[in-house]
Amino acid sequence: MDRQTTGLDFAVIGHQDNWANIRSLINIMRTDALEALPVSKIREVYDYIPPRAIFRMHVTSPLGMTRSGLYIETFIAPDKLTADHLRENIQKVRDAVAATYRLGIPMVILGGFTSLLLEGNIDDFREYGMAVTTGNTLTAAYVIKGIEKAVRQEGKRLRDCRVLIIGATGDIGMACTNYLKGKTKGVLLCARNRARLERFGRRIENEGHEVKWSTRIDELSGSADIIISVASSSDIGVSHLKGDVIICDAGYPKNLEEKLKDHPSVKLFHGGMGQLHHGYLFDPDYTTGFYRYPAEHLGHGCIIEVILLALENRLENYTIGKGNISEEKIEEIYALSLKHGITLAPFYNGNGLWPDQ
Ligand SMILES: NC(=O)c1ccc[n+]([C@@H]2O[C@H](COP(=O)([O-])OP(=O)(O)OC[C@H]3O[C@@H](n4cnc5c(N)ncnc54)[C@H](OP(=O)(O)O)[C@@H]3O)[C@@H](O)[C@H]2O)c1
Repeated sequence: MDRQTTGLDFAVIGHQDNWANIRSLINIMRTDALEALPVSKIREVYDYIPPRAIFRMHVTSPLGMTRSGLYIETFIAPDKLTADHLRENIQKVRDAVAATYRLGIPMVILGGFTSLLLEGNIDDFREYGMAVTTGNTLTAAYVIKGIEKAVRQEGKRLRDCRVLIIGATGDIGMACTNYLKGKTKGVLLCARNRARLERFGRRIENEGHEVKWSTRIDELSGSADIIISVASSSDIGVSHLKGDVIICDAGYPKNLEEKLKDHPSVKLFHGGMGQLHHGYLFDPDYTTGFYRYPAEHLGHGCIIEVILLALENRLENYTIGKGNISEEKIEEIYALSLKHGITLAPFYNGNGLWPDQ
């Protein structure tokens, strides 16, 4: 098929991480005349649906530029985001990227698990000549800036705090560790793969920073003043916590707060999110359906990264691979975010906005 020129500046390729969102998405896509489908029916067909465009996004910068993008859903089922389904999931991502190319879109962000599936291997897409990014630099920036703000707000000093990073050997986890290792009292690193964790921990130790690592969260959590969770796993639980710990949960699926019901003094926020103050419109508008948050115009750091690159006319593979996110890039992309009127999202969690927001 020939390439079309649709005038779109970027595409977001993504997936849903829970069936409640999927139910909203599918039933909004169907006409009002049709009876709403229950999750059990949707499950039967969901992953047979080929990747397709769901809505357009229009963004305006206070500097006057506007950019438009397209959200493409991969229809990867949340319970198939495992190694057993790697091959079929990768094919779905490839199909989504090919669809993006046919629409003449110059730049694409691989959101959530779609970037994890490829592990930075974008060689197959070089023939398309499109720029590809994971959006992890801005996600890490929003996580870090969120922690810095929460620490200030709670009357603490970062330098006096130890920070536990769950998912420390991942792309965002490494970026957070590298950024915070010299600015905090110490870093506590957790991940499941012992060898990879030890390699990373030794590197931080050899640089002269205070560091401990363990594959068990409970061996580290008692010393943590701050916890950053950037692990893509549904079986994470934290215990042995200091009463006033600040937690940034930026991983999917969201898994921590359900287990923290008995810790009312813990301050937990969903991190990695920004707020667009100068226009962020969806067409059709799904913000009352599956893309719903307790404040207006919130967006994922990864999506906002590609928006910023489009606003800046920077068609480049900005964040690719694992462990390549430097402090300089974090500061650069965060400064671009502020330049275009996009700030950190207010603090919120599953119960809504923090009372003081
Ligand atoms: N808010 C946003 O805009 C945004 C944007 C992008 C990504 N994200 C989310 O951020 C998370 C991290 O993304 P990433 O690209 O950095 O992923 P990644 O590179 O795959 O890293 C995941 C990390 O989590 C660890 N991990 C997985 N399960 C664990 C468990 N049960 N306990 C402890 N550690 C565990 C992994 O190491 P082991 O395998 O050794 O355990 C690895 O260190 C994902 O959940 C992603 O969906 C959010």
